[in-house]
Amino acid sequence: MKKILVTGGAGFIGSNFVRYVLRERPEWHVVVLDKLTYAGNLSNLRDVQDDPRFRFVQGDICDVDVVDGLVKEVEAIVNFAAESHVDRSLLDPGAFVQTNVYGPFVLLEAAKKHGVERYVQVSTDEVYGEVLVGCSKETDPLAPRSPYAASKAGGELLARSYHTSYGLPVIITRGSNNFGPYHYPEKLIPLFITNAMDDLPLGVYGDGQQVRDWIFVEDHCAAIAFLLERGQPGDIYNVGGGNERTNIEVTRLILKLLGKGEELIRFIGDRPGHDRRYALDCSKLHALGWQPQHTFEDALARTVRWYQENEWWWRPIKSGEFWEYYRQNYGAKGLEVEVRT
Ligand code: NAD
Ligand code: DAU
Repeated sequence: MKKILVTGGAGFIGSNFVRYVLRERPEWHVVVLDKLTYAGNLSNLRDVQDDPRFRFVQGDICDVDVVDGLVKEVEAIVNFAAESHVDRSLLDPGAFVQTNVYGPFVLLEAAKKHGVERYVQVSTDEVYGEVLVGCSKETDPLAPRSPYAASKAGGELLARSYHTSYGLPVIITRGSNNFGPYHYPEKLIPLFITNAMDDLPLGVYGDGQQVRDWIFVEDHCAAIAFLLERGQPGDIYNVGGGNERTNIEVTRLILKLLGKGEELIRFIGDRPGHDRRYALDCSKLHALGWQPQHTFEDALARTVRWYQENEWWWRPIKSGEFWEYYRQNYGAKGLEVEVRT
């Protein structure tokens, strides 16, 4: 493998993946294509920007010309680019259909035209829908329940169709909930860490008993790099951390790690259509010889420390547009919103 195109590489997981690959695969070159939406941030790539094996291009995965020009230079594509936040998908689903379904179509067409050696579509455990008992296997039917999850299912189904119809060497990964450095602070863990640091309330949706399987972002990135090299074209792989926790457990652990009291917790209105639980059976990936390296408690402590030591990164994000979205989402759920800029 020589040169890879990482789309969405200025976002949370994409930027961690770029950092991981430049460190762990010294022979690889990385081109990032990212639109720099509200969630994309060049600061996420600050420490790799001078690496001669790295190049950044600002642009949209839906732009046929830009995509074509880049795809003809590379051997593989890893598509992270997406609208990724479930709550925002309930407010503005159109943006999700455009980027998460039409975007992969444009990438797949270019991949077919230029004959790339691998196309990895980074998908999510949310495509299975909520799983009240047991664990989802790759062969289970898809039953997405939010516009975000449905658009991700559309993107990966299209990718699989390019394997079936045109023999494109597509690999699908279905990851569970990531956490770690550079996680945009609209998501549960970084929002609650940064709010608690400022003694702002933590709005737990519904009864807080929803379950997510958490994976440290470095483990997810390692699994994607591993599957890029070792995955079977046409196959789907679940990528979970094996750390099922209820939201209220995660919330209490964050407060404990920060030395803050539980009086910051507010139980507020629920997310409409809130999936109760996701859980993945990852035996297919484990059978290939890959395992996550981090425990949830250690990685969460490391993540909390990162936010404590990197206020330069998240404080500028928590301003302007962020608070507009925050007021809209949390106001509707009955949380009294106090904005501090
Ligand atoms: P993110 O929102 O932090 O980053 C998304 C990135 O994509 C941003 O840099 C944004 O600027 C870019 N982008 C958005 N639209 C674009 C477009 N049209 N063209 C080019 N770039 C565009 O998301 P994330 O949490 O890093 O997730 C990355 C991928 O992993 C997504 O596909 C997501 O569905 C998937 N995933 C995320 C998780 C998770 O827990 N965060 C879990 C499993 C899978
Ligand atoms: O499961 C993988 C998915 O995980 C990814 O595909 C998505 O891109 C990613 O955003 C994430 O989706 P979730 O909806 O699970 O993540 P979020 O951090 O938004 O919420 C985690 C849980 O916490 C969920 O049950 C909703 C709840 N929650 C979230 C927020 C932001 C709260 O109770 N309060 C909150 O303020």
